Amino acid sequence: MTNKIRVAVVFGGRSGEHEVSVVSAKNIIETMDKEKYDVIQIGITKDGKWLSGQNTVEAFKNGNYNGLTEVFPNIESGSNELLVLSEGNYKKEKVDIFFPALHGPYGEDGTIQGLFEMANVPYTGCGVLASSVSMDKLTTKAVWEQAGLPVVPYIGTTKLEWNNNKEGVIKKTEDKLDYPIFVKPANMGSSVGISKAKNRDELEKAIDLACQFDHRILIEKGLKIRELECAVLGNEEPKIARVGEVLVGGEFYDYNDKYVNGKSSTQVPANIPESLEKEVQQIAIKAYKILDCSGLSRVDLFYDESAKALYLNEINTLPGFTSISMYPKMWQESGIPYKELIDKIIEFGFERHKKKNEKKISFDDAGDWFK
Ligand SMILES: Nc1ncnc2c1ncn2[C@@H]1O[C@H](COP(=O)(O)OP(=O)(O)OP(=O)(O)O)[C@@H](O)[C@H]1O
Ligand SMILES: [Mg+2]
Repeated sequence: MTNKIRVAVVFGGRSGEHEVSVVSAKNIIETMDKEKYDVIQIGITKDGKWLSGQNTVEAFKNGNYNGLTEVFPNIESGSNELLVLSEGNYKKEKVDIFFPALHGPYGEDGTIQGLFEMANVPYTGCGVLASSVSMDKLTTKAVWEQAGLPVVPYIGTTKLEWNNNKEGVIKKTEDKLDYPIFVKPANMGSSVGISKAKNRDELEKAIDLACQFDHRILIEKGLKIRELECAVLGNEEPKIARVGEVLVGGEFYDYNDKYVNGKSSTQVPANIPESLEKEVQQIAIKAYKILDCSGLSRVDLFYDESAKALYLNEINTLPGFTSISMYPKMWQESGIPYKELIDKIIEFGFERHKKKNEKKISFDDAGDWFK
C-alpha cells in the first residue's frame, strides 16, 4: 500500500453531456499529480452502470466496456470504500475522495452528491443544495433575485400550464417582456432546447420545443449582450479568477457554436475596463455564496454594453474541464496552472467534509435545546 491519496474520478453518466464529461475526466486524470494521487477511474454508462478498470476513460471513449468491473460506493457511513464485484462476490477497496467530473442531470444536480453524503465520504465540488438549486435556472434566478442580485427579466411556466392555457401564458409573457424572447428548459445545459423567438408564432414554437426537454420552462427577455464568465474556487472564502469573455459567432451561443462549428472563441482576460471587471467579480462571488456553493463553480454573466448593465445568467457547478474549457483557462491566466487547480479542488473537498463532520452534534446534545 502507498500513502498516496486515492481519488475516484467519476465520469460519463446518464445525461446528454455524457461525452463531454468523458473528455473532461480524461484531462483531469492525465493532469493529476501521480506522485500524490492514486487514481481510480469510474465510468457511469448511459444506462447507469458503474464500471471501473485500468483504462476506463479509453473504454468509454470507444464504447467498449469489456474487461471493466462493476463497482459501487459503499454507503455505510464513513467506510470510505468502493465495493468491487468479483466472481459474484465483492471486495472492498479504499477511496479517500470522490471527484465527480460529470455534467448535467445525475451528476451536477445534487443526486450523486446525495449518494456521497449518505456514505459520508469526501467529494469535490458543491454539495447537494448548491448543486440542485444551480441545476434549475428558474430556482437559481429566484434565489438571486431575492438576494438583490441582477437577473434578466423573466417569467416561469410549466408544461402543464402551457398545455392547459396557452393564451394565458402568451399574455403574461407579452405583458412583461418585449421581443426578442428566449425560451429555455429550466434543467438542461449546452443550450439544448433553447430558442430565440422574435414574434408570437416563434414564441409558441419555442415553448413547445422547451416542453420536450423539461416540465419547468424559463421565458426571458432577449438582450444584446456580451457574455462574461467567472471562475470561482473555494469554500467559505472563495477566490475568483480574471474574468473571461465568450465571443459568440452565431446568433447565440448554441450547441453548434459550443461543440460543432467552432465559430465562437474565448478571450481571457476579457477586454473590459478594470472597474467593470471588479464589479463582475463581486457579483459572481455573491452569486456563489448565496447558493452555498463550495469547491468550484463557473458563474456566467451578461453585459449589456449600451445600457451599461450587468446580469447574472447562470451558474455551472461542474463546469467543463476539457483542454479548451474556460474554467481552467481563467485560472491558468490568473496564476494557477491546471495541475495545481486540481490539487486545490481536492483540498477543498476534504476541507468541506471535515468541517461538516465537526459541526455534527449528537441527538442527545440537541435534546438540550428543547428543555
Ligand atoms: N436573455 C438572453 N439574451 C440574449 N442571449 C441569451 C439570453 N439567454 C441566453 N442567451 C444566449 O443563449 C446561450 C445559452 O443560454 P444559457 O447559457 O442560459 O444556456 P445553457 O444551455 O445553460 O448553456 P450552458 O451550456 O452554458 O450551461 C447564451 O450563452 C447566450 O448566447
Ligand atoms: Mg450558458
